[in-house]
Amino acid sequence: MSEELKPEVINGEATQADTKTDDYILEVYDLKKYFLTRKEFKLVKVPVLNNPDPASTAMQNAASSVEPVAGDDSIVAPETPIEKSDVAADEPVVSEDEATESAEQGEKKADVTKFKRKIILDKTYVKAVNGVSFKVKRGETLGIVGESGCGKSTMGRSILRLFDISGGKVFFEGTEITALKPSALRKFRTQMQIIFQDPYGSLPPRSPVGQIIGEAVKVHNIVPKSEYRDYVIDIMRKCGLQDFYFDRYPHEFSGGQRQRICIARALAVKPKFVVCDEPVSALDVSIQAQVINLLKELQRDLNLTYLFISHDLSVVQHISDRVGVMYLGKFVEMGDEKDIFNNPMHPYTHALLSAVPVPDPHYKGNRIVLQGDIPSPANPPSGCKFHTRCSRCMEVCKHVEPKFKDYGNGHMCACHLYPQD
Ligand SMILES: Nc1ncnc2c1ncn2[C@@H]1O[C@H](COP(=O)(O)OP(=O)(O)OP(=O)(O)O)[C@@H](O)[C@H]1O
Ligand code: SF4
Ligand SMILES: [Mg+2]
Repeated sequence: MSEELKPEVINGEATQADTKTDDYILEVYDLKKYFLTRKEFKLVKVPVLNNPDPASTAMQNAASSVEPVAGDDSIVAPETPIEKSDVAADEPVVSEDEATESAEQGEKKADVTKFKRKIILDKTYVKAVNGVSFKVKRGETLGIVGESGCGKSTMGRSILRLFDISGGKVFFEGTEITALKPSALRKFRTQMQIIFQDPYGSLPPRSPVGQIIGEAVKVHNIVPKSEYRDYVIDIMRKCGLQDFYFDRYPHEFSGGQRQRICIARALAVKPKFVVCDEPVSALDVSIQAQVINLLKELQRDLNLTYLFISHDLSVVQHISDRVGVMYLGKFVEMGDEKDIFNNPMHPYTHALLSAVPVPDPHYKGNRIVLQGDIPSPANPPSGCKFHTRCSRCMEVCKHVEPKFKDYGNGHMCACHLYPQD
């Protein structure tokens, strides 16, 4: 274990690590992914101090020294993004003598007699993943649940470095993959795979199935050339696909069969860790069951570790060993599957569980209907991010963010209803 790894960071809280890295295939520390959604230059009026004291001059200089983010802003964002109201770069001054204007408008203050106009850079970021920390044990399935737009897919893709992240660290088998250059990352690509949500959109329509499954096998030299065809057919059989599908094209298959092709493609490069991003949400219930059972069988046979993303709680309950509940880019609760489903702590988890349909016409459950929409991740609420929709909201919740704490047996929760010390 590296020295850097020793202080364990859980949603910004540093605690002492008490476990060996070998137990964990994946460790994620304070991961952030911000998307730049708007970038525009604005003309604003800024006051010029008449007799600036040294402290205020220093503050002005500090404000004007904030540099805009260089390069591709949609990919790399600063640790603390420049918000809508922030004065960013010291861009060219457009005009300087605005004293008369300020006097007319009665804005003159004791130490301000002039205003000047400046162009500022105005940026808005969507904080899709906003500081998540967790670990995944070798061979387990960590289920991730949460409403649409809470950042599940972004987190999964950021872990695999399909997105460049805005902050944090990801360790795969003890190697910090977030610090690796693309060439060094290449060798980890085969070990970390993803199965996408949409079996229709994620297969190239003009390639036959054998080629789709076998392409990465060839590129990464998984088996000698002479064994290539047999190897691909063997993987296809494992995933419930018949040999003669090898030369067929994706449009000739049903949704369930296509998802099996996607699974075979991910497994063909012998991964250790697979992100399953809603792999069954596009399938009907009976096919869902087949694909879930297939994933479980393959996990047992090939000793795979899954990060299983879904908004279907019954599917997550069926497949997961542990479950994490996300809200607005952060975890609000995480723990063993049994603890989450039998003894939920967070009001948001209660609401999600109350919405799971029960196949009993006489069942009269207390459905908790959440008020309003999920707030914008570009401008999340202060304090507890859930306070705008929580029926148990207290005054403290509006101002102070609750700590994500372990309340025993690894059952973590972020809520002021529970002790914070
Ligand atoms: N490329 C992008 N540019 C800007 N915003 C984005 C981008 N991709 C995702 N987002 C935003 O990030 C937030 C999280 O999106 P994400 O796809 O991770 O949600 P999700 O939890 O997977 O939702 P779903 O259950 O619907 O798949 C959303 O508000 C989304 O609008
Ligand atoms: S911290 Fe407060 S607002 Fe947030 S979930 Fe708990 S009770 Fe509700
Ligand atoms: Mg998604």
